[in-house]
Amino acid sequence: MNSSDADFAVQNSLFMKAVRQEPTETTPVWIMRQAGRYLPEYMAVRRQVSFIELCTTPELACEVTITARNVLGVDAAILFADLLPMLQPMGMDLEYVKGEGPVIHNPLTRAMDVDRLKALESVESLQFVFDAVRMIRKELPKDIPLLGFAGAPFTLASYCIEGGSSRNYVSTKSMMYNDEGAWTALMKSLVDSIVMYLREQIASGCQAVQLFDSWAGCLSPADYRRYVMPHTKSVIDSVSQDAPVINFLTGNPALLSAQREAGGQVMGVDWRIGLDDAWNIFGPDVAVQGNMDPVSLYAELPVLKQRTQEVLDLARGRNGHIFNLGHGVMPDMNPDHVKALVDYVHQLGTR
Ligand code: CP3
Repeated sequence: MNSSDADFAVQNSLFMKAVRQEPTETTPVWIMRQAGRYLPEYMAVRRQVSFIELCTTPELACEVTITARNVLGVDAAILFADLLPMLQPMGMDLEYVKGEGPVIHNPLTRAMDVDRLKALESVESLQFVFDAVRMIRKELPKDIPLLGFAGAPFTLASYCIEGGSSRNYVSTKSMMYNDEGAWTALMKSLVDSIVMYLREQIASGCQAVQLFDSWAGCLSPADYRRYVMPHTKSVIDSVSQDAPVINFLTGNPALLSAQREAGGQVMGVDWRIGLDDAWNIFGPDVAVQGNMDPVSLYAELPVLKQRTQEVLDLARGRNGHIFNLGHGVMPDMNPDHVKALVDYVHQLGTR
């Protein structure tokens, strides 16, 4: 198969057809955090190396990406990486602390600290990511797209400012409200860096990318529109010249119309709103990804099947539904239930 045949195969995959809102034989599905700790195959690799070693060793990142895709039979692979390592070459001192998750030891606590975050001048220091993309693309079946990703500007800014995850985002919002100039400067450095990083993922072999605005749900619609949306939109406008963008935001259905205005070929939605209501807010001209409550996966299989049917029913009659959870799969999930979910979507999503 030469490279244009391979490109044809991937562009005509279930997933890419759905992105373009073309009819598909069945509903494509992938699972956020599909390659993580709930999989025994992943844990076997993790016992040998730390999380950051896994992210920075292309052979291993490739192995866990491909294994998860093959074990689950999903319609897309997602690059194994993390949101935060791109902040390291920008000056953030990042560590993954056992049992606690990511910690940034030198957070940007005050407005005067924002100068310490340097926009990436080149993506050379993240070469391990692009090497992983090349390896994965080579090993994946030709009709399975590879998704790249990055954190959205707000979610990355909140990590830089809070130094880790946060309950109320007090420091982040304080900077936003008290010093809009510093906030804007910080967001602009992030925007330029994210664009460069995503473009290189696409150039290395990703067919689409997801922008994770995992923490934006803490904002009111007015604050999202004023402090966040222009920056997210600027990332999406630049990157979608190269490949489709999945604009994923979680935690606050009141933000859906602003999320749509920020752009993206696919809107990622969580379970706090029915898929039909979300789609009505977005309008017909966009694909939608979601939106089963990840806790549904703990249910008995017949209940899980019923709940799968319910999500599919709300998308019935529209082209462009990509099935996913509304947020990442939990680390104590039974892998058999995740595999069952993928099979149910393929069976019940047939049209
Ligand atoms: O979806 C995938 O399978 C691809 C890989 C992926 C990871 N993190 C691997 C990971 C992706 C897309 C992410 C995104 C990410 N990383 C987000 C957005 C998540 C979302 O769903 O909205 C965030 C907030 C992060 C930052 C991060 N990385 C946290 C908060 C943690 C610790 C807590 C947790 O959820 O595990 C990580 C570590 C991390 N990233 C792990 C994995 C598999 C667990 C590491 C381990 O101990 O093996």
